[in-house]
Amino acid sequence: MKGLILSGGKGTRLLPLTYRRAKQLIPVANEPVLCRVIRAIRDAGITEVGIVVGDTEPEIREAVNGGERWGVNITYIRQSAPAGLAHAVKEALPFLGDDRFVMFLGDNVIQGGISSLIRQFADSDWNSQIVLKRVPNPQQFGVAELTAEGSIRRLVEKPKQPPSDLALVGIYMFDRHVRQAVESIRPSARGELEITDAIQWLVDHGFRVHPYIHDGWWIDTGKMADMLTANAYVLDELAPSNEGRVDENSTIGRRVTLQKGAEIISSQVRGPSIIGENTRIINSYIGPYTSIYNGVVIENSEIEHSIVLENSHIENVGARIQDSLIGRNAHVAQTVRKPKSICLNLGDYSQIDLV
Ligand code: TTP
Repeated sequence: MKGLILSGGKGTRLLPLTYRRAKQLIPVANEPVLCRVIRAIRDAGITEVGIVVGDTEPEIREAVNGGERWGVNITYIRQSAPAGLAHAVKEALPFLGDDRFVMFLGDNVIQGGISSLIRQFADSDWNSQIVLKRVPNPQQFGVAELTAEGSIRRLVEKPKQPPSDLALVGIYMFDRHVRQAVESIRPSARGELEITDAIQWLVDHGFRVHPYIHDGWWIDTGKMADMLTANAYVLDELAPSNEGRVDENSTIGRRVTLQKGAEIISSQVRGPSIIGENTRIINSYIGPYTSIYNGVVIENSEIEHSIVLENSHIENVGARIQDSLIGRNAHVAQTVRKPKSICLNLGDYSQIDLV
């Protein structure tokens, strides 16, 4: 079997972070989501992996290279336009050939990996397997309606009146018949070739599409709140380790991970949380569900339930920062200068909540 990871797209819902950054490279518990996806596919025994890329191709190549780090072989597939998930499959057909494959959205995080799913599909004579998850808000997803026997009757994209609470998770398995499907369907009202339409085509033409209902958590990290939720879930499951240094005036909790060169000075760090390589926490409080990436300095400040990306600097902030996603090379500070005013230098689409 082969793996196909979709890592193109526009990323508009994660602006401003996605102006200069592929959203798949934003880290959850200090590991880019795309790297987690590659690991999940590798752990399922797949070594031939195609990555569909768009305008962010250079930085994705820089982060992933040839896949040596994971022992997989990466082929990059440049999508001519972000014209839908089925469009991405269509443009990946030369790479896929006649092999069975798993397609994984490069911004999705799933609990427990995909090894058993892949094994099930590889050993079956199904033409496709889709992964479903019960959700409280099916209106926001592709939704599956099953027959009384548990096979798929139809799929609907973001229905106003959902026929079930079974949302399509961003993991799909296909055999060579998907070729006919993606070559037969037409663009949807939003101008994209939809993967739900391709799967519906398979169902309508008598191909066997097996639904698998996933019990664990699954997060599509498309929006900021989802990113923080995924971060919290992954931190909850992270086995802590300590390659950093903690001075005698600091305390760290049992579920804190300190990466190489991390320094905790006169501070308190509560877990689950992770402090990145060469990051310095000075006279500060880091609360639960916080991931501070590499090369960050946090000084005289408090932060929790947040993600801070590399090389940012937070200093002297009087209020506790929480539920926040802070990009790379950002500088957040509080001064005692008069007049008492707020000075902002924000990128387009930034969001600040003041109290
Ligand atoms: P989406 O999150 O559905 O789309 P998007 O990336 O354009 O984001 P937004 O809606 O915020 O603008 O995409 C899911 C995944 O599939 C994501 O990793 C990007 C990837 N993708 C492609 O590779 N090609 C495409 O044509 C599309 C639409 C998405």
